[in-house]
Amino acid sequence: MNEADWDARYTSTDRVWSNNPNHALEGEITDLTPGTALDVGCGEGADARWLADRGWKVTAIDISSAALARAKELNDHPSITWTHADPVQNPPEPSAFDLVSMHYFPLLRAPGDDAARAFVDAVAPGGTLFVVSHDLTGDHMKKHGHSHSENRDFNPLDYYTSHEFAAFLGDNWKVLVDRTQPRRIDASSGGAAHINDTVLRATRIT
Ligand SMILES: C[S@@+](CC[C@H](N)C(=O)[O-])C[C@H]1O[C@@H](n2cnc3c(N)ncnc32)[C@H](O)[C@@H]1O
Repeated sequence: MNEADWDARYTSTDRVWSNNPNHALEGEITDLTPGTALDVGCGEGADARWLADRGWKVTAIDISSAALARAKELNDHPSITWTHADPVQNPPEPSAFDLVSMHYFPLLRAPGDDAARAFVDAVAPGGTLFVVSHDLTGDHMKKHGHSHSENRDFNPLDYYTSHEFAAFLGDNWKVLVDRTQPRRIDASSGGAAHINDTVLRATRIT
């Protein structure tokens, strides 16, 4: 999906996501000293808001100006900078953030993995990489199908999972969490059919 597709998705309805913070984020990112955070693909902004409420200074990036307009309306906070950008094309600076957080960010696999590595490199020494993605393992796909399965242009398996980010971490990283866990199903869950999340939490030591 490109920028126009995402804009169309956000403008087609009053609310795409639940406006609850991500369940895994709430479960994991409570013991960190707040600093600077990058929320990649922030959507309607619930996660950025949750972080800002806990003292983080958040750069919340999305390719969709419609998403950002809604995020500002629903979740604005003085510590959030809403940013219309494509960090796949224009990667963040190395070591720029104490937390780089991605929730269901659709990052297409690409030779060399440059964009994925740039998100890893954007974490400062002492900082945290936190990636949540859909668990799309065979059983789940067979039992529940997938909301996008009828779209022949979209194959969810073309996108990096949180687990795959572990391969981009050097010896100066420690993986604290790399697991699959049940996803919280909200009344409004954006139509996504997956039932489990995969979660990676890693600390950059030096
Ligand atoms: C599946 S949604 C997840 C939104 C939010 N993180 C959440 O969990 O509710 C993916 C988001 O990434 C944004 N996005 C997709 N590709 C992007 C890109 N290349 N650069 C920035 N944002 C992008 C979309 O506009 C959308 O808001």
